[in-house]
Amino acid sequence: MTAHFLEIRDLAKRFPDPDGQGEFTVFEDINFDIEEGEFVCIIGHSGCGKSTILNVLAGLDEPSQGGVVMAGKEVTGPSLDRGVVFQNHSLLPWKTAIGNVRFAVQARHKDWSRRQVIEHSRRYLSMVGLEQAQERYPAQLSGGMRQRVGIARAFANQPKLLLMDEPFGALDALTRGTIQDELVRIWSGTGQTVFMITHDVDEAILLADRVLLMSNGPHARVAESVRINLPRPRDRAEILQDPAFYTIRNHLMHFLVERSRQTQGGGEAADRPWGSKPPEIDPTAAATGQAPAPPAGAGDRPQVRAVQ
Ligand SMILES: Nc1ncnc2c1ncn2[C@@H]1O[C@H](COP(=O)(O)OP(=O)(O)O)[C@@H](O)[C@H]1O
Ligand SMILES: [Mg+2]
Repeated sequence: MTAHFLEIRDLAKRFPDPDGQGEFTVFEDINFDIEEGEFVCIIGHSGCGKSTILNVLAGLDEPSQGGVVMAGKEVTGPSLDRGVVFQNHSLLPWKTAIGNVRFAVQARHKDWSRRQVIEHSRRYLSMVGLEQAQERYPAQLSGGMRQRVGIARAFANQPKLLLMDEPFGALDALTRGTIQDELVRIWSGTGQTVFMITHDVDEAILLADRVLLMSNGPHARVAESVRINLPRPRDRAEILQDPAFYTIRNHLMHFLVERSRQTQGGGEAADRPWGSKPPEIDPTAAATGQAPAPPAGAGDRPQVRAVQ
């Protein structure tokens, strides 16, 4: 079997029931791979366990079952190779904007001179448009600005894997657009791998190579892996002219509105043998008449391609 950069195997998370009588399964049978350099988004309704999965990938939370292997090594705790951007910024309140970035850069590059660290930190702060605000403390920054410091801090560390939990949710549309563009620019130039949670379908289509769709909890699973076969670079205005964009968008929306519920508690996903990966879908393949023949038993899901 070929090794993948990131291998997620049989993950499950269970909590004791509030009545103390049994267990509550948030998600189970989570199996997927991510290749080096891939940009993967994960979408699913609130509470299905996306943040928990991201924290497990980061080494900040432990699954009840299963495990994660990155570049051949089991993830057992946090590492500087994995940078995390949380939904709500997690800045050190007693450090300035640049102080927060410097702190992380110093930890990563212990051999760098003070000057190197400062220059590098400044570069990443200006990348997110904060060159004027670098001496301000978190309390003196708006929510969006704090989030941008968090993003600069994670990017500045140039981790092999960037894990982002709805990183742009708190940003205004203009800033969000700018930072999305910066993210894609940095990502495409560095070969970094990105795993990002978003609730914004358009954002996922604009950014990702692949979108993982999670069914609702409890017993949530990754129901599908949807390939975003749109050429890069993707321009946010031009993409709106592309019929393929709407084909993909409709597929994702339909899942969120209808199928995420139907697949709840396993459903379609539970038809798969335990331990198997979600089917890989290319919603545009059918539209261009290039749909591969569905594997036997795929039912009415026409664009299913078996994952190797
Ligand atoms: N300590 C805990 N005890 C019981 N349930 C928990 C605990 N932590 C998280 N959960 C439950 O796990 C589920 C998944 O949470 P989360 O990963 O934050 O979901 P998402 O990010 O998809 O919204 C939620 O239903 C939440 O209530
Ligand atoms: Mg969450």
